[in-house]
Parts: sequence; structure tokens; C-alpha cells
Amino acid sequence: MTNNMFFIANWKMFGDFKSVNSVKKVIKLSKIKKYKKAQIIYCPPFTLIDRFLNLVKNSKITVGAQNCHYSEKPGPFTGSINSDLIKSSGAKYVIIGHSENRVTGDTNQIINLKIKSALKKKLKVIYCIGETLNEKKKNKTNLILRSQIIHGLKNIKKNNSIIFAYEPVWSIGTGIIPKINNLEKQIYDIKNMIFKFWKLKNPKIIYGGSVNSKNISELNKISSINGFLVGGASQNSKNFIDIIKKTIN
Ligand code: 13P
Repeated sequence: MTNNMFFIANWKMFGDFKSVNSVKKVIKLSKIKKYKKAQIIYCPPFTLIDRFLNLVKNSKITVGAQNCHYSEKPGPFTGSINSDLIKSSGAKYVIIGHSENRVTGDTNQIINLKIKSALKKKLKVIYCIGETLNEKKKNKTNLILRSQIIHGLKNIKKNNSIIFAYEPVWSIGTGIIPKINNLEKQIYDIKNMIFKFWKLKNPKIIYGGSVNSKNISELNKISSINGFLVGGASQNSKNFIDIIKKTIN
């Protein structure tokens, strides 16, 4: 296990005011000495960010948003929220490039603008990359990942404010995770790609896709992983706590 581990909860379009209270149990855990090296970040829907910030204010848990608009400046973009608004909400992180947003139109070019605007606002970025099942079947995984790295990060200088989240699309919400050997090799390949592109030796890479309290011990065998981006299982505090406990043991 690497030193600091990220546990990033992506609540997607789930959660209400009531469910926020269950997070108190996670806050309690985060204060236990043993779990201090767990960097817990909650990314709830925009409407719950303020609630979360209030709840976690006396802990080291931080809060992020799940997406941002590409425009740095305010504008006529109904329903959208840009990095400036996220920053002023008090959130510190933003997820960008999630496959659920790539399917609705986020190209690598748009993602590039989003990352640039987020970094300008001093937000930390959780940059999601990953191949679809079809791309995997055609042996295009590395081609796709390289392209997501090169185009998504075009003209962005090497920095430590980006966490790379490898999320194979075929694993998200399916209960299927990659074979451990394959995942280990994939993380190695991604690190190499980032090194070639940025000359960055130790990028932070986390894994996402069907992480749960049952498969976490298996996933945790990969020492080069810096943490996990958890969808479904993060909405239930007991499951999320189990994941943290089994990782930091
Ligand atoms: P699941 O953990 O529900 O598969 O979701 C993963 C994910 O998309 C996190 O961003």
C-alpha cells in the first residue's frame, strides 16, 4: 500500500438531504489515528455540496464537484456550473472526463478546456480515463488511454494537481473488475504514458469501476494504486467504511 490513499466517493445523481447524515460515521472513522492517511473526498451532486461542507468542516474530509462547464467566464449556459462557481462554493476538487459525461458529448478537446479552467481556479482535478468494452475487445485500450492523456492535457504543464482515475467503462456499475494482473500492468502502462508525456515520475493513479467491500482486498494487492474512485458503494456509509478499513489495515 502506498502512503496516502485516496477514497473518492462519486455519488453521481444520487443522494438527498437525509442521506448526507449517514456520512457522520465516515467522519468519525476519519478521526481515528490509523485512518488519518485516508484522504477521503466526497463528490456529491452540486445541490448537496454546501451541506457536505458544513458537515465535514471539522474533519480532514474534503469535498469536490462531479463536473464543470468548459467556460471560465460566466455565460448563457442554462443548468451549467463552471469551475469559478465550484471554487466559490468551497469545493476543492472536480471530477472531469467521466465516461458518463463523455457519452453525452465531452470530447477530449472539451475536457482539455475544463481541466485548464479548473486548474486556473486552483481546483484539484480528478481526471477520468478509460476504454469501452468495444475498444478493449479491439485491443485499443492503450491507444485510447494515450489519446485521452495527450489530448485531454494538451498545453497543460506538468503539475501535481491532477489525480488520474483509471475507470474502464465496462467495469462501471457492472460488478466486473479487471483481472488483478491485467490491472497492475495497465496502471504501469498509464504511468509510463504520463512519464513520456510530462516526465512526471510518480503521478497519482486511482482505480474506479465496481469497487466494493468484497473485491477491495483483491484490488488492494496492487501496490502502485494510490486509491479508489467509488460510485455505488460510496453511497452507503457502511460499505464505504468497509472499503477504507480493508485498504488501510
Ligand atoms: P461504480 O463504483 O458504481 O461502478 O462507479 C464507478 C464510477 O463511475 C466512479 O466514478
